Amino acid sequence: MTAGTGDIEKAAGVLRAGGLVAMPTETVYGLAANVEDTAAVARVFQVKGRPPSHPLIVHVAGAERLGDWVADVPDTARLLAERFWPGPLTLVLRRGPRVPLAATGGLETVAVRVPDHPVALALLSAFGGAVAAPSANRFGSVSPTAADHVRAELGDAVDFVLDGGPCQVGVESTIVGVTSGTPTILRPGGVTREELEAALGRPVAVGSASGVRVPGQHPSHYAPRARVVLVEPGDVLAEARSAQEQGHRVGVILPPALADAPVKAHAVVTVPPSTAAYARGLYGFLRELDQSGCDLVIASLPAEEGLGLAIANRLRRAAGPRPTA
Ligand code: TXA
Ligand code: MG
Repeated sequence: MTAGTGDIEKAAGVLRAGGLVAMPTETVYGLAANVEDTAAVARVFQVKGRPPSHPLIVHVAGAERLGDWVADVPDTARLLAERFWPGPLTLVLRRGPRVPLAATGGLETVAVRVPDHPVALALLSAFGGAVAAPSANRFGSVSPTAADHVRAELGDAVDFVLDGGPCQVGVESTIVGVTSGTPTILRPGGVTREELEAALGRPVAVGSASGVRVPGQHPSHYAPRARVVLVEPGDVLAEARSAQEQGHRVGVILPPALADAPVKAHAVVTVPPSTAAYARGLYGFLRELDQSGCDLVIASLPAEEGLGLAIANRLRRAAGPRPTA
């Protein structure tokens, strides 16, 4: 059930009282707290199990409110905000005094975005301030793209869950650093590199800025319980068969070209032909394979263009080395 006006008012009250609200956005569900309330922000880190040095994204109701939260708005940022907000783009700018260091992990920069979801925008308007909202999952695990994912993973640790239906983009926002000369993609996401370059009329670099902590860039992030192994698309069937024969419960993320191929595996999800549909479904696929009891997931990377760049980034992180106990 999608949240109604009463739910929005209730959620805004929870934020004002220092509580945590699970908020739908077009990308993934966020775990929202009043950014100016350092105790509430501290609880976000605690509930997620996220180290407090890892900065959060600040969500605002509209581009016209940007000046409340950042020290200045360079022309590049203004142009990108006008073109892509509300939408899956996060801009890293110089921090304004209203954003506590607790929310930026001690950095003098702040990540800001305007989410493109009617429930999130209604909540931000009703609340009147800005919310810090990381994805509403435990640190390192698969991001939630439905309200039920949040309930299942965080349960009572969240004070109120606003249900806004399934997320339409399905992967997180694209984070772009605009504090130095060349705009740089710090995390690929829902706005593509091609769209950014078309808007700016110049190349945009991809890479993480040195010295900036981006947890999404660490090994093993966005990871299901099952171990994820990436192979060439042409090797998916053979790898699945051999892992299955070795006694694994194999989950396969099947490339669209192999949609009709006979697969020997415990569970199979077939990648939709459009990258937009793949992005929308990706985290749900990983959850589904976990739920069906797979201990190993075999997948291949899509072409790294358009939304394929973000999908490949998440699959690589999901396949990254796990911390050893
Ligand atoms: O789509 C999204 O961005 C979702 C929804 C809820 O809005 N949020 C999200 O938040 O993905 P989270 O916390 O899971 O990821 C935030 C990312 C992290 O990789 C963090 O390091 C980066 O944003 N970040 C935040 N502030 C930053 C800063 N000042 N400089 C560089 N990266 C920053
Ligand atoms: Mg996250």
